[in-house]
Amino acid sequence: MDMIIRGIRIEAEGIRSFEFVPADGGALAPWQPGAHVQVALNAVTKRAYSLCNREQDTDCYRIAVKLESSSRGGSQGMHQLQVGQRVSIDAPRNAFALDDKAQRHVLLAGGIGITPLLSMLHALRGQGGAAVLHYFVRSAGHAAFVPEIGTHGHVHAGLDAQATVAALADIVARDAADPQTTYYVCGPEPFMAAVESALQAAGVPSERLRSERFGSAPAPKASAAPAAAGGATEAGVFRVRFARCGSEFDVTPAQTIIEAARASGLDIPTSCEQGVCGACLTDVVDGNPEHFDAYLSDAERAGGKMILPCVSRCSGRLLVLDR
Ligand code: FES
Repeated sequence: MDMIIRGIRIEAEGIRSFEFVPADGGALAPWQPGAHVQVALNAVTKRAYSLCNREQDTDCYRIAVKLESSSRGGSQGMHQLQVGQRVSIDAPRNAFALDDKAQRHVLLAGGIGITPLLSMLHALRGQGGAAVLHYFVRSAGHAAFVPEIGTHGHVHAGLDAQATVAALADIVARDAADPQTTYYVCGPEPFMAAVESALQAAGVPSERLRSERFGSAPAPKASAAPAAAGGATEAGVFRVRFARCGSEFDVTPAQTIIEAARASGLDIPTSCEQGVCGACLTDVVDGNPEHFDAYLSDAERAGGKMILPCVSRCSGRLLVLDR
């Protein structure tokens, strides 16, 4: 979609929000809370950002971007955009949906992880749902959207790691025994890990946690493919077949599936290429995927029916993908 930047706001230290409206004045593709869009900054740089719209923002997509010192072009490029500029955006996709069976929702945000949870909070408030947001930030100056959060959220500013763990344990304990409560988490990896540990310690089953990761996924293990009989070839090479077009190619230990596909002139849409965003999600027709992403749930991994080919591999000789 060809979009125009209607507004840019400084929301907190290092965080800007952007409102995009259709360049042709047409309607926006529908979306649900937790959805993200991919913003193409140029021909090669595409980044996924969660929508953080308010209920009244039905005519625009709103995202917020934190300027990362380690930016590889995404956040720096975003922070250089100006009102009135055109950008291309893919239609929203959602891999972090609200649990419509839950009676109570506990939203746990770390830093810029507030964005998908803010749109969830707005939706739940609009529906009269029982929801509470806990927002952990480095300092009060790093807390974005505080007026919007209002009394429906608690900002925990300036806690060190130990205090964060203690606060999470306390928050989780309040609803741990209630099977109708679903927890949601988004934030930097240490925060995600702290939430997962708190839930585990409180005996909350993983089905009651929904999460969305950003940043670095576990590194792909190029040499992880087993060399034993029944596994990949001794050299760690496996073959991938695209079921729909019949194309086949080899993936060496030094390549990802995406890279090997490209080398064969085949294209799989990607964004993060770190196993985080879900843009390359592909159905598995046959073969045993070996997962190195941070996107699929434990149940989805165990099911073996989906793969993130930007990082994940095959533990056998042949992987057939629905491409
Ligand atoms: S491109 Fe983001 S998960 Fe593969």
